[in-house]
Amino acid sequence: MIAQGVEAGGHQGTHRDVPDTDCSGVGLLSLVAQVREAVGIPVVAAGGIMRGGQIAAVLTAGADAAQLGTAFLAAHESGAHSLHKRALTDPLYARTELTRAFSGRPARALVNRFLREHGPYAPAAYPDVHHLTAPLRKAAAKAGDAQGMALWAGQGHRMARELPAGQLVELLAAELEAAR
Ligand SMILES: Cc1cc2nc3c(=O)[nH]c(=O)nc-3n(C[C@H](O)[C@H](O)[C@H](O)COP(=O)(O)O)c2cc1C
Repeated sequence: MIAQGVEAGGHQGTHRDVPDTDCSGVGLLSLVAQVREAVGIPVVAAGGIMRGGQIAAVLTAGADAAQLGTAFLAAHESGAHSLHKRALTDPLYARTELTRAFSGRPARALVNRFLREHGPYAPAAYPDVHHLTAPLRKAAAKAGDAQGMALWAGQGHRMARELPAGQLVELLAAELEAAR
């Protein structure tokens, strides 16, 4: 079972779509402990994990494994747009928000112009909003305008490391070992 904290980048794996999802979301450490006590199957922790020390933390909290998304967005092998990769560590993008602006379902992205302008009124209408905004996002990417793209990112985005994926895994394993 994947326990996805509200810190996670991209779409939230939820069937609930309530306004102000940021406030009702549960943080990863709290969630892992609760899921661990509720189920007898392996639990995978996801959301905001960028370092081996955080993997040690979720394993200690009861998870059997950790899942990292944003940490691998900046990897050499990642297919993310170069502007998206750069934005992860750009001080211009200071924070993330859960928004329906791009797809009509809550997803966490770096706060940019598109999110600021369309997030407040975007309806719960997935996948219609996704199809509606896809040509705009595509055009923005083509024009090199990161302010018009969906910059999916978890709350730990600042800690992204631009490395080959294999090296990143080795580094995370070494950090985990050191933390334990
Ligand atoms: C670029 C990107 C796209 C994602 N797309 C989805 C998605 O379509 N559906 C989903 O359930 N989770 C999606 N996720 C969430 C991941 O499955 C995972 O929960 C998340 O990446 C973990 O948090 P982290 O990004 O902070 O490591 C996406 C994550 C990223 C970074």
